[in-house]
Amino acid sequence: MPRGATTLPAPFYTDVLYFRREMETLFARMWICAGRVEQVIEPGQFIVREVLGESLVITSNSAGQVNAFYNVCRHRGTRLCTEAEGSFGRSIQCPYHAWTYDLNGLLIGAPHMEEVPHFDKTDYPLHRVHADVWDGHIFINLSRDAPPPLRGQLADLPSKFASWRMDTLRLGHRIVYDVKANWKLIIQNYNECLHCPNLHPALNKLSHYLSGENDPLQPTYMGGRMDLRPGVDTLTMDGKCSRGVLPGLSGEDVRRVYYYAIFPNMLLSLHPDYMMVHTLWPIAPDRTLNICEWHFHPTELARPDFSPDDAVEFWDLTNKQDWHVCELSQAGISSRAYTPGPYSNREDLLYAFDRMIVGVHQG
Ligand code: FES
Ligand SMILES: [Fe+2]
Repeated sequence: MPRGATTLPAPFYTDVLYFRREMETLFARMWICAGRVEQVIEPGQFIVREVLGESLVITSNSAGQVNAFYNVCRHRGTRLCTEAEGSFGRSIQCPYHAWTYDLNGLLIGAPHMEEVPHFDKTDYPLHRVHADVWDGHIFINLSRDAPPPLRGQLADLPSKFASWRMDTLRLGHRIVYDVKANWKLIIQNYNECLHCPNLHPALNKLSHYLSGENDPLQPTYMGGRMDLRPGVDTLTMDGKCSRGVLPGLSGEDVRRVYYYAIFPNMLLSLHPDYMMVHTLWPIAPDRTLNICEWHFHPTELARPDFSPDDAVEFWDLTNKQDWHVCELSQAGISSRAYTPGPYSNREDLLYAFDRMIVGVHQG
């Protein structure tokens, strides 16, 4: 950490021009985590996500391939789909004049257009968004041209986390938080535990805030791990675990929790017996939608006495403490009195993240 390192000036968190530049440079060009394959496992099942003011539809075709499209009809531009999730059946039909697309986005029906000379349905497929999958996580990319492969962005994470067999895990619970804070404050909050003894006494009881070790900042992710205290099985309200450890795990991995922020919008928290995923959906400089999901092994989910509540209750409490303090940060940074403050040596990842963000704005 260089001497004199400070936090960023206020406009990084408050100015709409900074916000737009980050959206265009990071969210429109990088792969962003959009959901789980299980949400579109049946052909025609869909989810809708919003980012950069765009509405995007993610669905799958009869071969199980995940496709993503702009939620824009090729006739007169109408939103095709107004539900957050659901099923199209075998085709996607616009509610206005019934132009109909197959699950690959090809136009297959356009009433009365046969009367129009030279009209060719193949000229009007849905506008496609790139989509790919890592271990059950769907990623989308809004680049106009072919983006670099998702694998490149994920770097060594697929091998690092292969033992969790994330593709086998299934949703146990979801909470959507509307956080009145800049998306970067949420990432920064996630990547330091300096605040843990003060803000999260329950977490600190289970996992000592200084037990952690971080990887150095990588170009596309940052993260590290924290150890569970002796006698603690996992992060639940009482530190006990009502579930089995995930079958692929062994050794120190069953005594740790891994926290990785995968830029720009995924927070991946891997516990011995469950996975928690946050995806961040910035709406404005001071507002971020935060979808939080808890995923478990299907064997556990199938048990008659299965309950995700112990994990959900623990993290919902901790999440709310975090979002509250992020909102307080946003409010203070927005004050005319705010000036950048000095970082401690334990905030080195945050400083490195800030440098990356500064780079975005310097082009
Ligand atoms: S706008 Fe979609 S069919 Fe006319
Ligand atoms: Fe926290």
